[in-house]
Amino acid sequence: AELVFSGVQPTGNLHLGNYLGAVKRFVEMQERDAQCLYCVVDLHAITLWQDPEALKGQIREVTAAFLAAGIDPKRSIVFNQSQVPQHAELTWIFNCVARLGWLNRMTQFKDKAGKDRENASIGLYDYPVLMAADILAYRATHVPVGEDQKQHLELTRDIAQKFNNDFAGSILAHGHGEGFFPITEPLIGGPAARVMSLRDGTKKMSKSDASDNSRINLKDDVDTIAQKVRRAKTDPDALPSEVEGLKSRPEADNLVGIFAALRGISREEVLRDFGGAQFSTFKPALVDLAVATLAPIGAEMQRLMADPSHIDAVLADGSERAEAIAAPTLDAVKDIVGFVRRG
Ligand code: TYM
Repeated sequence: AELVFSGVQPTGNLHLGNYLGAVKRFVEMQERDAQCLYCVVDLHAITLWQDPEALKGQIREVTAAFLAAGIDPKRSIVFNQSQVPQHAELTWIFNCVARLGWLNRMTQFKDKAGKDRENASIGLYDYPVLMAADILAYRATHVPVGEDQKQHLELTRDIAQKFNNDFAGSILAHGHGEGFFPITEPLIGGPAARVMSLRDGTKKMSKSDASDNSRINLKDDVDTIAQKVRRAKTDPDALPSEVEGLKSRPEADNLVGIFAALRGISREEVLRDFGGAQFSTFKPALVDLAVATLAPIGAEMQRLMADPSHIDAVLADGSERAEAIAAPTLDAVKDIVGFVRRG
């Protein structure tokens, strides 16, 4: 059966890239009637230091964003990672499956650790293994993410494959099928798999960019959204009528991609309407569309954030349901690995 898993870090500044590349697509998967688990990955967040008081708010805020965007906590399982102990437990076992050489190739670690690598946390290095455990604790088959997570999902597949191979005999002996862990399918795509900075079309839109004008935050008010779009970097030319014409124009390509994703259409279709138009025409249309989509989400987030006890109850209920799926997986894994278990 199809099982969808994805996660978002509660590190503040949830932005348009997170929404279009991930959360909006979470809602689409839910509408397809797949069993979906959407996780606020607080264990991942602390791989970089987080202020403890702020972290609680950030966890609730991502949860509020999920709900405001249309994730229904009755149909989907919405929870935070630290309330389900199996994530950390499976990480340890996967630490003994994953190879040092595999992790040494992870580009996100190199980016995040920066020059002072000796001073990076072990958690930051191990981040992709925890991600594999997130996914495989539920034996998830599909993972919707943005383009930047592609390498991590390849590692997840490698870990699943190696576990299945290393323990092939024991897996069969314990009555499980050959592929105990599924080889998870990444769902990366659409016009906004990689939303770029509004200030520099060659840089990814990111929570950590020092310039707030580089991104549209889900919490931005109408005026801020409009101002950021109006000030977004562009080139002086009119929009082309074919997508080919966007190739060496990263800023134009990005804005057309954002428009397409917001409307749920392709870049081609956007250019059918706006090919030949100047940015002075296109940008106001983009402002209207962005405001119409994002303002209600921001308002609903604000409404939800006024009642943290409701959000906490959603997370508690989701965590309980998540654990009910993950616990039997871990029991099976412990049998397969050869541990002695209680009862
Ligand atoms: P995080 O919190 O950095 O990002 C959450 C989601 O947003 C996507 N994303 C983008 N998509 C398009 N354009 C952008 N500029 C952009 N920036 C971010 C990310 O690809 C992601 O889908 N490691 C994950 C969290 C995670 C996870 C998992 C995901 C932990 N465990 C298991 C899937 C499955 C992350 O960094 O998310």
